[in-house]
Amino acid sequence: MLKGKTVIVTGGSRGIGRAVCEAFAEAGANVALIYAGNEDAANAVVNTLREEGVRASAYRCPVQDYSAVDGTVTKIIEDFGGVDILVNNAGINRDKLLISMKEQDFDDVIAVDLKGAYNLMRRVSPVLVRKRSGKIINISSIAGLDGNAGQTNYSAAKAGLIGLTKSAAKELASRNICVNAIAPGFIETDMTVGLEEAAKAVPLGRMGRPEEVAALAVFLAGADYITGEVIRIDGGL
Ligand SMILES: NC(=O)c1ccc[n+]([C@@H]2O[C@H](COP(=O)([O-])OP(=O)(O)OC[C@H]3O[C@@H](n4cnc5c(N)ncnc54)[C@H](OP(=O)(O)O)[C@@H]3O)[C@@H](O)[C@H]2O)c1
Repeated sequence: MLKGKTVIVTGGSRGIGRAVCEAFAEAGANVALIYAGNEDAANAVVNTLREEGVRASAYRCPVQDYSAVDGTVTKIIEDFGGVDILVNNAGINRDKLLISMKEQDFDDVIAVDLKGAYNLMRRVSPVLVRKRSGKIINISSIAGLDGNAGQTNYSAAKAGLIGLTKSAAKELASRNICVNAIAPGFIETDMTVGLEEAAKAVPLGRMGRPEEVAALAVFLAGADYITGEVIRIDGGL
């Protein structure tokens, strides 16, 4: 079903995004991955994807910068001949209690985790509208649903991403475009190093694996009658 489709994955150089790129490539999709600065990691992912026999390229682009996103998506469309699926996965955290959080910590997280997704959606949606088909998958977090002490900036961005998802789903449904969010719990990546103790609260007794989130993204990319949803993947938290 995904064979020959083109997917853009932001934050594809590491962690969940890397696993998403690999799962889409295994399903036969061509992959354009966006990363922030880790060129070696991005190139390593591209080499792995090409071993699956699909087309793959990496693009350095700060997702929070609309003009950079505009230029990058234009280049991707030139290189791949179009785009069918967008996975907004790039994200950062700057965890601090509210009483000691710096304004910059708040602004940076909103800029990357929320505005970054808007930037990609704003640029890619008209392309999908013209084709009357497409899938957009946004990686939110259970912090956006439940809140989490020490993460007011991150929770606000991830809750905002859910609002963005639900509203865009309503706007784009008449054009046969599905927009959904995934809300992971604790997943083993660079972002959760040091959180092994907190993960003991997970009813299933372990952290999630990036591949488990990736499988859900691939499922949503093939689901034509699910839109405006937020799916938790958190081991029962
Ligand atoms: N891990 C978890 O437990 C968990 C739970 C819930 C939600 N999430 C969400 O899942 C997503 C992926 O998380 P992760 O744990 O896989 O993170 P990660 O391992 O820290 O990887 C972050 C990825 O995002 C890219 N990135 C960061 N800032 C960027 C920017 N300004 N522009 C473009 N790309 C940027 C990074 O590129 P470079 O390699 O170039 O730095 C990297 O590829 C995030 O949105 C995160 O909030 C994670």
